[in-house]
Amino acid sequence: MPHRKVVLASIVLILIIGGLGWRQHQAAKPSKAPTIITNTVKQAAGQIPASFDKNQYSTTDPNSIWVVVNKPHPLTPTSFAPTDLVMPNIPLRVPGNESMQVRAATATALEQLFAGAKQASLNLMLSSGYRSYNYQVSLYNGYVKSEGQTAADTQSARPGHSEHQSGLAADIEPASRNCEVDQCFAATPEGKWLAANAYIYGFIIRYPADKVAITGYEYEPWHIRYIGAPLATELHNQGIETLEEFFGVSGGPSY
Ligand code: DAL
Ligand code: ZN
Repeated sequence: MPHRKVVLASIVLILIIGGLGWRQHQAAKPSKAPTIITNTVKQAAGQIPASFDKNQYSTTDPNSIWVVVNKPHPLTPTSFAPTDLVMPNIPLRVPGNESMQVRAATATALEQLFAGAKQASLNLMLSSGYRSYNYQVSLYNGYVKSEGQTAADTQSARPGHSEHQSGLAADIEPASRNCEVDQCFAATPEGKWLAANAYIYGFIIRYPADKVAITGYEYEPWHIRYIGAPLATELHNQGIETLEEFFGVSGGPSY
């Protein structure tokens, strides 16, 4: 039957043409590389940041440069004293005083930070570094006596709860002592430079103006905390201000 043959031939032809078209379409499609390979290539090109290892250092060991010290998290033991305290080679508010010491790594970083400020024609001074448990006792009690405990707790850490006792904190002021340990420091050229550049040297402004509820302390534009340049840079790049937020550690105003 010629009619049936024509129909059959047409069907065969359609199938052949369709099959050829499908094969060509498949060949034209770019092959999909595994995600893991494309991400590695993108990371090398700087398009995706390599994930930061949050477990490189302890956040609870008082000897760790990442130790988180705040109201709910005292230094453990509370009598902790670092074993590598040194006087940094920078202008000191009270030369020779115990509180002018900091841990060795903090000292090196402070010396570099002060040199960086000097290049910007700014002269800084160390106002306070390491504070022993006993020193913090007298300092905190002084605040309580003059302002009452509620106000004292917004400004001064109770003994065993101060970053200064870790040897990783430093209060910075202009060499002129303008706005010394005062919130007006933030508006000085030295305070502005410190806020913008501290991370480069491995420090953060530990008690920012907008994070009082998280840190438990009023704004302290002069108080910097050494955490090392990789973490300080990571926080800067991610726009995260506090250790509590980055590590998911509790903080706040309650002991
Ligand atoms: N002023 C800070 C919070 C301290 O006493 O350690
Ligand atoms: Zn301080």
